[in-house]
Amino acid sequence: MDIFKEIEPLKAFLKHKWNSESIGLVPTMGALHEGHLSLIEASKRENQLTVATIFVNPTQFNNPGDLAKYPRTLERDLEALKSAGCDVVFAPEVNEMYRRPSTLKFDFGHLDKILEGEFRPGHFSGVGLVVSKLFHIVQPTVAYFGQKDFQQFKIIEKLVEELDFNVTLRRMPIFRESDGLAMSSRNQRLNADERKKAIVFYEALQLAKGILKEGKSVQAVKEAVKKKCEAIEGVKLEYFELAEGDNLTLAENVSDQTVLLIAGFVGEIRLIDNLILSE
Ligand code: PAJ
Repeated sequence: MDIFKEIEPLKAFLKHKWNSESIGLVPTMGALHEGHLSLIEASKRENQLTVATIFVNPTQFNNPGDLAKYPRTLERDLEALKSAGCDVVFAPEVNEMYRRPSTLKFDFGHLDKILEGEFRPGHFSGVGLVVSKLFHIVQPTVAYFGQKDFQQFKIIEKLVEELDFNVTLRRMPIFRESDGLAMSSRNQRLNADERKKAIVFYEALQLAKGILKEGKSVQAVKEAVKKKCEAIEGVKLEYFELAEGDNLTLAENVSDQTVLLIAGFVGEIRLIDNLILSE
């Protein structure tokens, strides 16, 4: 496995050795879990070369405390990537990715004003910036992202479409712990009590799905979800919404395309989850 910390040597390596080969890119912020590794496996199945990136991107953090406390486990991550058969890792420092403070901003229209965009202002602009940079540096054939960050995937689809990036995007399923909790690097920060409570968001999604199947109103579902979350001490629901999967408009009626999206805090840890109703 080749490890790069700088942009130019990585570009030179990819250009000279892998110019005409298919390259799969898996962007991450590290603290890797099985969900991340499933993206590596998908890339390995479909490409000659798999490049993973590990970079805790400061421009996508709207909360400095969250950035400071984001788990960083580089040595363990490199071991996990090596075992998974990853070919190349790009793990730059902040001053390599951002040689000068960037003022460039993205506006994704409606897509970054709702859900995560409403509660994390600037977040998707930072995601757009770093993913654009990674696409330029690596020039992947295929790039892999998780459904876990459903809205992020929509943002990246728009980025690729509007900027004509020559890359195919793949959205991969959510990996969960055995009790249903969506795997997340932030789960590492939950204490034992919080870890038990964190399942509430997955359970709320299942509850909502059940109520919708009974034909109850969206309003009734929202109330049930709120009640379920509010019943647990230390849990704070930020949003629960139904949205159309193709364009992410918030929905008041259910269709085949409906996605249920939820976010909230367990103690100080912010978690997100979602469920595609038809799956
Ligand atoms: P990060 O949170 O590290 O996630 C990296 C990729 O792994 C994302 O595409 C995410 O959707 C996917 N992922 C996370 N949890 C998953 C799970 N339980 N199952 C399957 N896939 C999962 O998302 C980011 O980093 C950043 O915003 C990034 C795209 C790297 C830009 O900085």
